[in-house]
Amino acid sequence: MQPSSPWAMTPLAEFDPGEFAAWQELLETRSGLVVEAQRRTYLQTMLGARLRELGLHSYAEYRRQLGEGPRGAFEWACLMDRLTVQETRFFRHPPSFACVAAHLRALGSAADAGRAWQLWSVGCASGEEAYALALLAAEAQQAAGLPTRFGVTGSDLSRTALERARCGRYRPERLGGLSAVLRQRHFAALTDGDWQVRDALRQRCCFVQLNVLDLEQAPQGGMDVIFCQNLLIYFRRWRRREVLARLVERLRPGGLLVIGVGEMGDWHHPQLQAVADNQVLAFTRKG
Ligand SMILES: C[S@@+](CC[C@H](N)C(=O)[O-])C[C@H]1O[C@@H](n2cnc3c(N)ncnc32)[C@H](O)[C@@H]1O
Repeated sequence: MQPSSPWAMTPLAEFDPGEFAAWQELLETRSGLVVEAQRRTYLQTMLGARLRELGLHSYAEYRRQLGEGPRGAFEWACLMDRLTVQETRFFRHPPSFACVAAHLRALGSAADAGRAWQLWSVGCASGEEAYALALLAAEAQQAAGLPTRFGVTGSDLSRTALERARCGRYRPERLGGLSAVLRQRHFAALTDGDWQVRDALRQRCCFVQLNVLDLEQAPQGGMDVIFCQNLLIYFRRWRRREVLARLVERLRPGGLLVIGVGEMGDWHHPQLQAVADNQVLAFTRKG
């Protein structure tokens, strides 16, 4: 039998209620992530694994290191990669994308249709959502006989997710409900069976690291579409409201904000008009 390595045998310090509370506060303050009491064992397991990798013996020591300069920032990014859920796929909630497609069709026949459209996927994970928006914009401009003029921003906290997004390479099963025609038009088949977003679309998408708690410092603005799904669900309601208020400021008049159904029920904003479709939670900015 293989002897266990010394670090695997070394017991970690107790993850007592005070330590758990300190981690809950740190995670929520820095990323918005709420770790409920019933997920204490999960958090302990995740942190414990990282402590062992780093050769540390106490959760408090690791917590201190996370606040220490560039090394702490790097380690924080590693931890976030492990603690955030990056599950996504193309056209994940079809009615929401149908709503965007309808909005873009209407833009295509507006008086100022020829200007460059701006779209934003907030919490884009590995990029499927951002590329889906790009695909819809390309299709809408082509259908309207317009030159291709649009840009898509994908933003996320996770650096590894953003690296995958920039590559734009996906397993066939990730392409989901995409028709064969659209797949051929916007993706190239690679020899290993993956599909890669074609350059024409990829070059219109830019991926940036951005914590939605820091939206005040973000340069994005004048957006025609802001799409933010399956991110706010990890936050408390008051924080969701704050993030959404910042996003509304980034919409141009007439712009569309799409969030996940059930992510912010019973929410009203004075500058927004709800889209009359009970399959989606979407709003246009007045004025
Ligand atoms: C479940 S994925 C959603 C992906 C995509 N929007 C979708 O609906 O399929 C949630 C994403 O939010 C990101 N995220 C979590 N907290 C964040 C924060 N404070 N700022 C920015 N992104 C965050 C995670 O890294 C993850 O990629």
